[in-house]
Amino acid sequence: MTSLHGFGLGIVSENAQGAVLDTFYPQPVAHVSDALSSVLPGVSGRLDAAELSQLSKALEAAGDSAGAGLARQLVAAEGKVVATSLADNAPPSSVEEAYLKLHLISHRRVKPHETDLTGLFGLLPNVAWTDQGPVDLEELPQRQLDARLKGSVLEVSSVDKFPKMTNYVVPAGVRIAHTARVRLGAYLGEGTTVMHEGFINFNAGTAGPGMIEGRISAGVWVGEGSDLGGGCSTMGTLSGGGDIVISVGKECLIGANAGLGIPLGDRCTIEAGLFVTAGTKVNVLDDGGNTIETVSARTLAGRPDLLFRRHSSTGAVQCLTNKSAIELNEMLHANN
Ligand SMILES: CC(C)(COP(=O)(O)OP(=O)(O)OC[C@H]1O[C@@H](n2cnc3c(N)ncnc32)[C@H](O)[C@@H]1OP(=O)(O)O)[C@@H](O)C(=O)NCCC(=O)NCCS
Repeated sequence: MTSLHGFGLGIVSENAQGAVLDTFYPQPVAHVSDALSSVLPGVSGRLDAAELSQLSKALEAAGDSAGAGLARQLVAAEGKVVATSLADNAPPSSVEEAYLKLHLISHRRVKPHETDLTGLFGLLPNVAWTDQGPVDLEELPQRQLDARLKGSVLEVSSVDKFPKMTNYVVPAGVRIAHTARVRLGAYLGEGTTVMHEGFINFNAGTAGPGMIEGRISAGVWVGEGSDLGGGCSTMGTLSGGGDIVISVGKECLIGANAGLGIPLGDRCTIEAGLFVTAGTKVNVLDDGGNTIETVSARTLAGRPDLLFRRHSSTGAVQCLTNKSAIELNEMLHANN
């Protein structure tokens, strides 16, 4: 018996034609054990009340009382309950599978990049996210009229392929000042605070703890103890960003309105307002403030203990060592 990449029991929302708009998985599981896998063959697709009761008993017998309890509760949602299995880490092939993968990341069951999301955009429907759940855009005008006829207003909070994460899961130990700024599929490590200007896309996130007042683009990973200053930007790989995966090391500070286009090592700082792209020419300074070489920023990718700033008189981008910089100091001394 081979173990599964993921499994979830979920509740679907559908449009009038029965097309799935989203799926909510309260307890998604990654890397399902052999014991649990053994009760799952044949359990897939829509489950009716009898199948759910049977599954609940089988899960209980396999020692998974949380799963058994969920299966019992889902009987109340009969007709909308789906069992989704991911046999291996293949690209998603349905809306239900796509949502399961996004849940696995936001529930911290897998890290960004650990589950294959190829083709995700094409699968997810663009829907109106309302206070009555997801609504098909073609059905929206009638639903808005229906609400008005009852003297109320249908609140449309966004029109997007991705919903906000917090309507599906709030992982333990986080603060999120403005919940619409974090998409389902974001990974927020324990101790992460996302302030109002912060944003975290899907398949991206933080190891935690950390303070996020800037934007974490799709695919970007931020290490433990790092601080993204107000309005700063990290380059994603989705549009025009090339194929370098951007990351921020541990205990870094990206200054307010700064930007990052290289993988940054541990304990690095980027001055407020400075955008460091891969091709930015950087003067590397020694301890005496002399330029010892000029390199493209990409060659400094991953190096720890760097301070990047734009000289306020000359405009040249400079790279200095922090006091604790050991690795770069060694590199500089080797160049002396
Ligand atoms: C780059 C930065 C880290 C430098 O801060 P710092 O290490 O405290 O440096 P200081 O301002 O004390 O300056 C130290 C020296 O470097 C010089 N210096 C600093 N930035 C410089 C620049 N851009 N160009 C030329 N010289 C500069 C200072 O003039 C000073 O020189 P001096 O010793 O001859 O007087 C800081 O300016 C910065 O941008 N921090 C980001 C803060 C932020 O945005 N936080 C997020 C909030 S939401």
